[in-house]
Amino acid sequence: MDFPLFFLDFFGNRILIAIVASVHVFINHPLAVGAWPLVMLMEWWGRRKGDADWDHLMYKITFVLFIVTTTVGALTGVGIWFTTALIAPFGIGTLLRVFFWAWFTEWLVFVSEVVLVMIYFLTWKRWLAGWQKSLHIGVGALLSGFSWLTMMIIVGILGFMMGSGNWPEARTLFSGFFNPIYIPQLAFRTSFAMGTAGLFVWFLLYFFTKKHSDLRRRAVRFVSGWMLIWSVPFAASSVWYWQVVPDAMRANVDVGLMTQRFAQWHETLAVIMAITLVALLLAALVGLARPKLIPRVALLIPFILGVWLLGHFERVREFIRKPYVIADYMYSNGVKVSELPVFQRDGILPYSTYVEHHTVTSANEIEAGRDVFLVTCSRCHTTSSGVNAVVNKFENLYGTGPWDDAALTAFINTMHTSRTFMPPFPGNDREVKALTAYLKELQKNRELLFGAQAGWTIRNNNQAQTGTP
Ligand code: HEC
Repeated sequence: MDFPLFFLDFFGNRILIAIVASVHVFINHPLAVGAWPLVMLMEWWGRRKGDADWDHLMYKITFVLFIVTTTVGALTGVGIWFTTALIAPFGIGTLLRVFFWAWFTEWLVFVSEVVLVMIYFLTWKRWLAGWQKSLHIGVGALLSGFSWLTMMIIVGILGFMMGSGNWPEARTLFSGFFNPIYIPQLAFRTSFAMGTAGLFVWFLLYFFTKKHSDLRRRAVRFVSGWMLIWSVPFAASSVWYWQVVPDAMRANVDVGLMTQRFAQWHETLAVIMAITLVALLLAALVGLARPKLIPRVALLIPFILGVWLLGHFERVREFIRKPYVIADYMYSNGVKVSELPVFQRDGILPYSTYVEHHTVTSANEIEAGRDVFLVTCSRCHTTSSGVNAVVNKFENLYGTGPWDDAALTAFINTMHTSRTFMPPFPGNDREVKALTAYLKELQKNRELLFGAQAGWTIRNNNQAQTGTP
């Protein structure tokens, strides 16, 4: 019964969005956006050469793409709606209002994409020759266009979250969509998707072709060439993208790459990333020059490296946007920048919907403090022992003994100025006091994994009465 809350409090709210969204990106970029044009091109090539084996090989690869994109790919895409609506309803609500027509269009494009995937796969064996084959390749081209279109639309929204350009003044869909980060990010994601699609198809080739066969040699060579070509726009767009990342966000990169504790390692990490890229490039070169040299297991390595790189890139992009969920407009805890003075004057609880207490009194102080924690910290922190647990964070700073009220209060009141990745505390003095009382209680009872859960104080009281630790 406690499991869902336990899960969230242990791994943190953020992770739920992160898992679903990352799986979605792993499928969307290489398998949908990148692989369809590659497969379509290879189909066209096979036809030109009149090579039936090659065509059959592409059919098998399409089967895998068809299954994965229409199941896990589509489900995680919808899953992002569920997770963001649960964890960050204010953020996703705002994005929906600004980008309503963009999302509406994207939905139509997405449905068309699914229909085209089905047509492309299901007609492959029927439309094998003559004009039918041309039509089939045409469907592949259309499908490639539509899957890129979904990316083209969504990247406008992702860019908006990092830098909203002149939208705060103009407040139009157009100004939000064509934000300063839009085109560079689109170029980056497009070339990344194309390159990693090569890795994925490469990987499949080694299952669907025989060792030492001529077919494998030719297909590996083709895909390696594709990857090498895309590595050029990829390198160029990475630099371009980096240049449009706002300065405040660049300053967050150290913590974003490795978390605070490991921030000093970030040079090592940069080296690892560079090695990853060189390894990928080398693999592609060997594939081009000596396709037979590459053993099957060795292909797993570039593929895993590609997934790692993509995952890490998404993590950093999400992190450096902090303290905002929408740049300069809304903080990650759902508080709008413009609302902050009101909350700091009146408190946030009177304006919060999903809390038990709307005012702090001496009788409800700890429970109201828990509400304050849930509203202002729990998007990013767990309670006592999970990922980024707030108790551990304070113990690192102030030791394991009972904490000093004044120190906690001072930290909370200045948390944004001392750690720019955290939003300013959006509440009044009474709420800071309640939060402090709650945090101290949490520290005392840290063995209670369910600290953030409603009713924990009651359980705690029972334990006190029965004398169990
Ligand atoms: C936008 C997300 C976010 C919010 C909201 C947030 N924090 Fe943080 N906080 C972080 C991150 C990220 C770190 C650094 C984690 C790391 O890399 O170690 C952090 C670190 C901390 C630290 C340790 C600072 C240090 O230098 O060691 C404390 C204490 C802390 N947070 C308390 C709070 C409290 C209390 C709240 C609510 C009032 C809160 N945070 C709200 C993201 C957030």
